[in-house]
Amino acid sequence: MNIYDPQPTMKPGEARCPGPSTRELILSDGWDVPPELIAESYQYLGDEDIPFERYISQDFFKLEMEKLWPRVWQWACREEHIPEVGDYYTYDVGYHSILVVRSAEDEVKAFYNSCLHRGTQLRPSDSTGSVQHFRCPFHGWTWNLDGSLKEIPCRWDFPKVTDEEFKLPEVKVGRWGGFIFINMDENAMPLEEYLGPLVQHFANWPLDQRYTTMHVQKILPANWKAAQEAFVEAYHSLETHWQAMPISANLNAQYDVFSERVTRFLHTFGYPDPSWTKPQTEQEILEQMRLMPEGAKVPDGMRARAFAAEYLRGKLGAERGIDLSKCSDSEMLDSIEYHLFPNMFLFPGIALPMIYRFRPNGMDVDSAIFDLLFLQPLAPGEERPEAPEPYKVDVGTSYADAPGIDAWLGHVYDQDTNNLEMQQKGFKAGKKRAQTLGNYQEIRLRRIHKTLDLYLNA
Ligand code: FES
Ligand SMILES: [Fe+2]
Repeated sequence: MNIYDPQPTMKPGEARCPGPSTRELILSDGWDVPPELIAESYQYLGDEDIPFERYISQDFFKLEMEKLWPRVWQWACREEHIPEVGDYYTYDVGYHSILVVRSAEDEVKAFYNSCLHRGTQLRPSDSTGSVQHFRCPFHGWTWNLDGSLKEIPCRWDFPKVTDEEFKLPEVKVGRWGGFIFINMDENAMPLEEYLGPLVQHFANWPLDQRYTTMHVQKILPANWKAAQEAFVEAYHSLETHWQAMPISANLNAQYDVFSERVTRFLHTFGYPDPSWTKPQTEQEILEQMRLMPEGAKVPDGMRARAFAAEYLRGKLGAERGIDLSKCSDSEMLDSIEYHLFPNMFLFPGIALPMIYRFRPNGMDVDSAIFDLLFLQPLAPGEERPEAPEPYKVDVGTSYADAPGIDAWLGHVYDQDTNNLEMQQKGFKAGKKRAQTLGNYQEIRLRRIHKTLDLYLNA
């Protein structure tokens, strides 16, 4: 049997790629790994086609603005974006704009970014900075960092204004893993409940002990859902990342649905894809992995993957002053990707330590803002350095141009996002007005749409 054969005797969702599973590969490394890493949790969720309208319709987009974004927890920034009292960060999604501020040493508050006089934004969209208070640029109404009213020029003219009623309206704030989340819904469930299984999984990989080393931002020419869905499956690798198949096992990736809001995929690096049948030596694998200095030789009887992971444990451990001796080959090397509904991706691995966020670009249904961050572990006792400014990559420019990004990885991101413009246009051009998904490999995409419906239909 090969990857092109159907498996007609299986129930829908039961078929798997021929060859070893990701779990078997990870166990064959011989490391003790956290039980969460090798947990499997697939659910068959039906096989109805998903209409293209969901990606191109202004009405659908408007519905998301009204019923999705104001009611979900979404991360606005990292703690290291606002380290000092008075530091603020504006987070925008569509027409929503939220002002996040460190109002006291260990207190973060968030407010609607709109003046209570005549509505002007208190701070511009997409801005960060440090203030002693929020003073509206139009007539100078001013609020303290905790949202209490400080002063109103010519207050004699506003007898109806009371301090109590003219506090800045607050938005809920939640903090987890070094991230600051906001939720505009006054009745929102607590963040911890929303995160659900993510909390237990990431107890193994505490992201509050990491800091942002790189932040790249790019506008992508597709609806925010299509943009993120380019990253929720490894099925596209065979066609899109053809160069990686000798060293990256994609078609046997593992897909998990842990809750309505948390899904994961997991695939190994340093093992060939099941579709790659050409024989190759461990030395040839090592050279294509491009992780080690030229001339490195895999010792007899050792796998390239184990050798590369061992090298990185020593190198990164020494560079950063951290102990990676207990970190398994999988946690060192693999693509371990969690998704938190609606738009956050978290990679707990060491060599691939990314965070993604996808959101609408203003009110344009056809484009999205993609934030790509790298989070590296802090040495014990080390304070988080301030976060770098986002480096903005123009549409049509390679991610490899961003300073500090590995060129090979940059080109992989180019491959991922180069299809998007054609997909967004194809949504509008098709006679068949819906997409047909793989039961297993595209289950995360289906889960996202089902959860989206829970919000839109509520
Ligand atoms: S609109 Fe803000 S002070 Fe007038
Ligand atoms: Fe990809």
